[in-house]
Amino acid sequence: MTTPDVAGRPATWRELTDRAADTLRAAGIDTADMEARWLMEEVSGLDRAELTVEADELAPDRTVPILDALVERRAAGEPLQYVLGHWDFHGLDLAVDPRVLIPRPETEVVAEVAISELERIGERRGRSDAWSGALTNFTVADLGTGSGALALALAAELPDAAVWATDRSEAALAIARANLAGAGQPAVRVRLGEGSWFEALPEDLRGGLRLVVSNPPYVAESEYPDLPPEVRDYEPYDALVSGPSGLESIATIVEQAPDWLEPGGVLVLELAPHQVESARSLAAAAGFADVEIRKDLSGRERVLVARRSPGG
Ligand SMILES: C[S@@+](CC[C@H](N)C(=O)[O-])C[C@H]1O[C@@H](n2cnc3c(N)ncnc32)[C@H](O)[C@@H]1O
Repeated sequence: MTTPDVAGRPATWRELTDRAADTLRAAGIDTADMEARWLMEEVSGLDRAELTVEADELAPDRTVPILDALVERRAAGEPLQYVLGHWDFHGLDLAVDPRVLIPRPETEVVAEVAISELERIGERRGRSDAWSGALTNFTVADLGTGSGALALALAAELPDAAVWATDRSEAALAIARANLAGAGQPAVRVRLGEGSWFEALPEDLRGGLRLVVSNPPYVAESEYPDLPPEVRDYEPYDALVSGPSGLESIATIVEQAPDWLEPGGVLVLELAPHQVESARSLAAAAGFADVEIRKDLSGRERVLVARRSPGG
């Protein structure tokens, strides 16, 4: 069964994809061809190779209104990730919708820095934890977990880690919970906590965390109006804006982290490049022994690494 396309006759996958690309291009989307293909893959259930091979096959009628609805949302400015309803983070397919920040490539670097810090301390890395199951040797926390991106990346790569994933937003935690459910075995070692930063954690973890990772909100209130409309009009305000200076959340986490980290434990924090010097000073004032700044994929300083001295 096919349905007439706009020209009044059945449409092939190629024609529908081209039409979607034209609509997106007319809406000013630079990556229209690529995005039309991704939307088509989503709607058809076919992968890129299958769509190429079957390009001149007629599409079933049900695909046309579904594709049109998604293209319309994207053409109106909604981020592609929300339109698709899921996005890749560090090899994980995560559900995303406007209750959570869309996981960013720079945050994959944060995940990688956090994992490598734990490897440096001597923890083992590997995607297979068949031999350890739910047994864990150490505990880490991802504060402000949103979709659960950092927490799940750590759980997936660190087979001995117990992972706490926290957020103040109940709505965000609903998405994180869905992503835990979809992540399979590593999620057995992840627990969710609701509350502001360290307040979401059980008291008995104080002084016992081997690593704290966070991508907190770090936009200043005054910067908010200048964010790209795709970000400002769709992503959650509380995931983006920290307060008048933009440093509020970073300051809270840096100041409280030494109390929650075990001796030799590490804080890994995403920040904006212009916040690096302030964050360094905050970390020094909080008593961290060793502070380092790491760069993202485009060479911008984006990750604070602050290590507690092994002596306490
Ligand atoms: C920039 S988003 C990061 C989301 C996710 N970790 C990621 O990297 O994609 C910041 C997250 O912090 C949460 N958040 C904001 N203020 C918070 C607070 N005081 N305590 C805990 N979480 C908070 C927001 O709800 C949001 O999910």
